[in-house]
Amino acid sequence: MIKLTVNGHEHKLETEPDTPLLYVLRDELALNGAKFGCGLGQCGACTVMLDGEAVFSCLTPLLLAAGKNVTTVEGLGTREAPGPLQRAFIEEQAAQCGYCIAGMMMRAQALLVKNSKPTDAEIRSAMEPNLCRCGTHMRILRAIKRAAALMKSAEAGAAGRARP
Ligand code: FES
Ligand code: FES
Repeated sequence: MIKLTVNGHEHKLETEPDTPLLYVLRDELALNGAKFGCGLGQCGACTVMLDGEAVFSCLTPLLLAAGKNVTTVEGLGTREAPGPLQRAFIEEQAAQCGYCIAGMMMRAQALLVKNSKPTDAEIRSAMEPNLCRCGTHMRILRAIKRAAALMKSAEAGAAGRARP
């Protein structure tokens, strides 16, 4: 049995340890945000976070994810209460066909966790492994910058509320 923590929930799985994490998320846990694009680590549609790092879930065997925290796009917020990245992508209308977007958001989230105020060049370089066939790149860039600003103001608000 393999224990897998996804978006803060623990799952006990009887799945073969070499099964790609992407298949486990989509087929067993009904988390369909991460997409199957190439299955070869070349497109980024399957990107999720593993202990804060962006990884291709199509190339990550289940065993490698066991005992770590997996975050998928479903962990960033809900339709009713979207998280900052989701809000920013909606506000910038950054999704065209949307197929790449969950992976884009997870790679962006991994960047923003490490670097809360990335420059354009840093965003471009961090996002390089993820491909979008629709050409919505400039909007994605703007959305990531908007998300950074939203996260910053949310933090400032929380700090303000915490002050006596
Ligand atoms: S499906 Fe994983 S990188 Fe393309
Ligand atoms: S929005 Fe269509 S592939 Fe990116």
